[in-house]
Amino acid sequence: MGIRENISELRLQFETELAAAHDSDSVEKIRIAYLGKKGSVTELLKGMKDLTNEEKKEFGQTINVLKREVDEKITARIEAIRKEEEDKLVNSAERYDVTLPADTAFGSYHPITLVQRELEEIFASMGFIVEDFKEIVSDYECFEALNIPKHHPARDMQDTYYLDNGQLLKTHTSAAQNYLMRKYGAPLRAIFPGRCFRNESTDASHENTFFQMEGIMIDKDISISNLIYFMKTMLSEVFKQDVKVRLRPGFFPFVEPGFELDISCHICGGKGCSTCHGSGWIELCPCGMIHPNVLTAGGIDPEEYTGFAFGLGLTRLAMMRYGVKDIRDLNSGSLKALSQFNHE
Ligand code: PHE
Repeated sequence: MGIRENISELRLQFETELAAAHDSDSVEKIRIAYLGKKGSVTELLKGMKDLTNEEKKEFGQTINVLKREVDEKITARIEAIRKEEEDKLVNSAERYDVTLPADTAFGSYHPITLVQRELEEIFASMGFIVEDFKEIVSDYECFEALNIPKHHPARDMQDTYYLDNGQLLKTHTSAAQNYLMRKYGAPLRAIFPGRCFRNESTDASHENTFFQMEGIMIDKDISISNLIYFMKTMLSEVFKQDVKVRLRPGFFPFVEPGFELDISCHICGGKGCSTCHGSGWIELCPCGMIHPNVLTAGGIDPEEYTGFAFGLGLTRLAMMRYGVKDIRDLNSGSLKALSQFNHE
């Protein structure tokens, strides 16, 4: 192929390649491929050594023109690409119009959070501290320190999720009792809300994950009447009406005596309805006087101090308070179910 054809073919090839390059890196590669030490244009010049003087003059000029042309086109292309990129930036910046009104989607509190905060305020006003506690606890914290030794049948009352390392998901907020007694000693008034886990099959009124709020009050001469007084005051505040309570005997190894505290049904006022299954009472809160063994394990002398403990079903209370029929709605994450409690 003659040098003339070579030149026109090279020019065509260069223009095609340059048009296809859309970023400065690719253009730089083209520059090297044509004008570099081993580039195609440079090679053309080297090829001239075999030509006659006459031909050298003619082609030398043509190649120099090509060289300049390639150089200029590359510089122009780089400039164009830089501008393109700049325009792109400006356009995308324009898409955010800071003067537009905000797209307002309000969040809402979970019904359990709402009830929890309300209770925390009520108890704080009665001198209780509010404590948080971990969800993964030891066997000692959840059972042993609460007067439930290994192989005690009471362990079967709670279907426990055990972890491989021997720890477990707390089955009740009572698991924090020992820690708090050791941390603060007596006298002590504390509530500790928390998430609890039990390996149960779920239905409209059972969940494997639920919330409780534990409370303990330890001092000299604390009796069952203190327990009843605090529970009545708290529940009347929550339901914004005078709440009647009754105690039935209940068994829990960490209290003696132990009770189930029922409240008069706030739906029918105690006459009997479907919510209270016709009895006029709703079972709400197991409680009792803290067992001397539990005080001792917590480093508190049972000869000097007594106390009560209660385990309020926070989930149950939230359901009653907000008329939630299916407990599973609370853990569903469904905005449709949960956002109804907006802006309470
Ligand atoms: N921890 C008990 C339970 O979840 C409830 C309870 C708490 C009972 C405090 C008595 C005193 O079953």
